Amino acid sequence: MISGHRGAAALAPENTLAGLQEAAKHQIQWVEMDTQLCADFIPVIFHDKKVNRCTNGRGYVRELNLAELKALDAGSWFSTNFTNERILTLEEALTACRAYQLKLNLEIKIHDEADTEQLISKVADTIAANGFPAESLILSSFSVNAVACCQQVMPHIRRGLICDSVPEDLMGLSEKLELFSVHMDYRLLNETLASTIKQAGLDLHIWTMNKPELVAQFYQWGVDIIITDNPPLLLSPLS
Ligand code: G3P
Ligand code: MG
Repeated sequence: MISGHRGAAALAPENTLAGLQEAAKHQIQWVEMDTQLCADFIPVIFHDKKVNRCTNGRGYVRELNLAELKALDAGSWFSTNFTNERILTLEEALTACRAYQLKLNLEIKIHDEADTEQLISKVADTIAANGFPAESLILSSFSVNAVACCQQVMPHIRRGLICDSVPEDLMGLSEKLELFSVHMDYRLLNETLASTIKQAGLDLHIWTMNKPELVAQFYQWGVDIIITDNPPLLLSPLS
């Protein structure tokens, strides 16, 4: 199975409605998006700590309020075809995923560990208020603390640990956090590691894999979801 990364980051500005529309257009089931808090404690969909790279503004997401974030153009940096694309709130993203029948891998983006509890509490409130179905959702994070906090606050929602290195005691961590999935940097995966993860009963997701020539091998190793910037490229019959 294929998941769009930050929506469909090769095809539309990352983490925007346009990205979700691209993902839906290519009929993929899953998208990954990043969430963090803005200054007025509302979870928004944004990857970087600062707005500089992906909008026409400057400054830290955490120091800008929603009105200030909404005033930014989050599309022109990518292409003039996307001028006036706006930063989404988590609430808007959940509603759009439901409308487009997309399942969501929501990455809890921790730029400052001190924000963890507050962010996760707001994420939990937003998911509950939206009524987003738990079976269409995975919460994931690089932060073990954040995953543990999700386990406490939203035990009924599946959890994934994102890894940019192979943790020494991955299986111990997985039991402790009651993980549903491990989301591994695809460059770290080999057949043995894949088999260990699968034999532990975990789902195996890899990111961010944009190489059609590697698709068959990863599926053979038991990878469940490939997270990619360019879903149609990996779905092409040649891959
Ligand atoms: O979910 C996997 C991937 O999104 C993690 O890296 O930096 O793109 O959020 P990043
Ligand atoms: Mg991410």
